Amino acid sequence: MLVRRRGSAQLRNHAARGPADVYLARPGQEYSRPARWRGCYEGRRNLGSTGDDRYAYSADSARRYGSLGIEGTTYEIGFDAVRELLGDITRKTFLDFGCGAGRSTAFLRALGADYVYGVDHDRNMLEAARSREVGGATFLFADDAIPLPGESVDGAVSMSVFVEIRTLSQMARICAQVARVLRPGSPFIVESSNPMAFGHSFRSYRYPQAAESLRSGSRTPCIVTTSEGQVVIQDTFWTEDDYANSLARAGLSVIGVDYPRPRDPSAWSTDEAFVSPCLVIHAVKAVRKRELTGS
Ligand SMILES: C[S@@+](CC[C@H](N)C(=O)[O-])C[C@H]1O[C@@H](n2cnc3c(N)ncnc32)[C@H](O)[C@@H]1O
Repeated sequence: MLVRRRGSAQLRNHAARGPADVYLARPGQEYSRPARWRGCYEGRRNLGSTGDDRYAYSADSARRYGSLGIEGTTYEIGFDAVRELLGDITRKTFLDFGCGAGRSTAFLRALGADYVYGVDHDRNMLEAARSREVGGATFLFADDAIPLPGESVDGAVSMSVFVEIRTLSQMARICAQVARVLRPGSPFIVESSNPMAFGHSFRSYRYPQAAESLRSGSRTPCIVTTSEGQVVIQDTFWTEDDYANSLARAGLSVIGVDYPRPRDPSAWSTDEAFVSPCLVIHAVKAVRKRELTGS
């Protein structure tokens, strides 16, 4: 049983633009897309891509990416949604998976997280993050394995990262690693590109290739505009099902999917005014039965 979180008029508006919507499943339930959206992406899958051809940031592009802030950018829409979902995180230890140049790590600290472990596989991004000198945070190299003990964090986020994952098997490995380090009952919030954002131009970045021409696993450029110049990142097209099923297979319950919009759409002259740039998935690591009963 999925629980809608918005009024039906809003749901109709979102449906008109694609599968963008908000719904919640009860904890422990299987993720299941509402019936009217099934088949939405069928025929666009391309599960055959393999190999580790990750996008590598040069020192220059890491520096440029590091100049991006949150306020007034397209990213602010996703950050606001993540903040709302996290609520009070004071005295909590967090994992920032794919910390990049440290922006999302600094965000978690500003929200009150006691300590944040930012992990990333790109050495130039890690260097940019370390140079930022975020207090109460450690930046660690993580390739396949997250270098933290099991059940050591109270929550995890991954912001603008899953769109850089190249294969579903890599996504599954990452979700399993995050599930391993989370304490039972803790959230994992994944913010990534809305599959319907491809082909759109936003204030901070644009996707020149339309969603209709892409399949799961397709590479596609994302042109990011920063105050220091452009960065062209090779992103990967994934559907909501790709993300949600990878989380569910790692034992994480998907309890909500949101396609956030700006607070005041009329203030945006770019496509944020009518299409959400991102999707935000709220997953939770299940609590074991004996922890619930206290035995
Ligand atoms: C677009 S940046 C976003 C950085 C940061 N989360 C933010 O919001 O500012 C994406 C980051 O994810 C990292 N990343 C992508 N795939 C990764 C993986 N499999 N393991 C670790 N880091 C990864 C990239 O190296 C890059 O630094």
